[in-house]
Amino acid sequence: MNKHFAFRIGAVIAPIFLLVSSLPAVGLRFDKTEYAARRAKLLEKIPDGVAVIWGAQTPGNYYPTAQANDFNYLTGVELPNAALLLDGASKTATLFLTATEDQARQEGVSAEMAKNARPFTGLDRVAPFEGFSSMLASLAGRSKILYTPFKPEELYREVSTEKFSIFQRGVTLNPWDGRLTRELQFVKILKERYPSLEVRDLSPLVWELRTIKSPAEIALLRKAGQVGVKAHIQLLKACRAGMFEYELSAVVDYIFEKEGAQESAYGVIITSGENHPYLHYNKHDRLLQEGDFLVVDAGPDLDFYDIDITTSFPANGRFTPRQKEIYEAALAVHENCMKVYRPGLTEEQCRQEVDDLLIRQGFDLKKDYFQRMRGGFGHYVGMAVHDVGGSPRVLKPGMVIANEPLVVLAGENLGVRVEDTILITETGCENLTAGIPRTVKDIEAVMSKDGIPQTLKKNGLY
Ligand code: GLY
Ligand code: MN
Ligand code: MN
Repeated sequence: MNKHFAFRIGAVIAPIFLLVSSLPAVGLRFDKTEYAARRAKLLEKIPDGVAVIWGAQTPGNYYPTAQANDFNYLTGVELPNAALLLDGASKTATLFLTATEDQARQEGVSAEMAKNARPFTGLDRVAPFEGFSSMLASLAGRSKILYTPFKPEELYREVSTEKFSIFQRGVTLNPWDGRLTRELQFVKILKERYPSLEVRDLSPLVWELRTIKSPAEIALLRKAGQVGVKAHIQLLKACRAGMFEYELSAVVDYIFEKEGAQESAYGVIITSGENHPYLHYNKHDRLLQEGDFLVVDAGPDLDFYDIDITTSFPANGRFTPRQKEIYEAALAVHENCMKVYRPGLTEEQCRQEVDDLLIRQGFDLKKDYFQRMRGGFGHYVGMAVHDVGGSPRVLKPGMVIANEPLVVLAGENLGVRVEDTILITETGCENLTAGIPRTVKDIEAVMSKDGIPQTLKKNGLY
């Protein structure tokens, strides 16, 4: 950074900084060095530019604040109405806050943190939002490129790309509406106010980073994975024909929250009976019958990191021969994927190698269900359940993906999905959700035990 510029920025920042030395910071889910390393990697990618990332706005009444994933990824700061300004030339990050100390305490910020916002967060500067426009103007004045995410922020259970398509269809392209997303409106304003600057999309740069998980993220995902495993074991124990699906989702959500998860990473999905073709059906409104087969897809959100797990099982705890046949085919695809996942593998190679293993194991790939269910890669999993980046073309260490073979036989009211959240390691893969009963024998054994509802009832408690 040239001296003249440093002085100008200093002049903008210094008075602000004095003002904010008593403003609050927030709790961080990771060590501050984790966020600093992420920002350093992003700053490397924008040596010639300035980036603006908006944090989440104050949520509607009675929703807890959930920071937007990209902003959270780069700062760990969970206060609403903040903005992050990155300067690629000086490799510095400035956080602008609007929250007063009372508002921050309302968001769960501790008093100790409140006193030391800048050192606590590890950001280069923390300033009140009033200084944002002048600092952006200063930086824009000597930069040629402005970066900002073009894709929508992810809040709560949202998935950025899916949110974008839904918004396009329902709002931007709706002739009776036509509004832009928050992000594209900001892009429009930047272009109007700084016509000589090029405005570029920051989303792919942040998303490339989010695709490869750090050791700290992996440790958290492992922990979250085991919360998911506990919930699915309780689900299997609890299920009986004669129950409503909502009783099962209540058990799953109870375990997630009891284990410290913020909530379900996505609304618990339960398909049974005629609902199997609707893969994300989450109304939980069927009364389970003898002979029903269920697909339950549910994972926790622990400290903003999501897990994706599905178990498939008979409502009455005993597989019919046909249910067993289809289930074991899906399980074989899943297990063979685990054998072949490794860095450098393409999806085409994966499918071929899984096919070879299935044939060697005696499976008949001409069966109708194998036409629709083969080896492959599911979507990325991370801060969103369908995490940024879609799904990989080639596996790399640090990627976390869903292994989720599924098949629906609508005519038979049957669907099966076997899903775990998988880390690609240096040499192969690791199941982050290991421990779920997966064989027919193990599922039947667990389902023969009492779960929470039966135990409460037998003890006259509920
Ligand atoms: N849990 C959503 C999915 O697997 O697509
Ligand atoms: Mn799933
Ligand atoms: Mn999935």
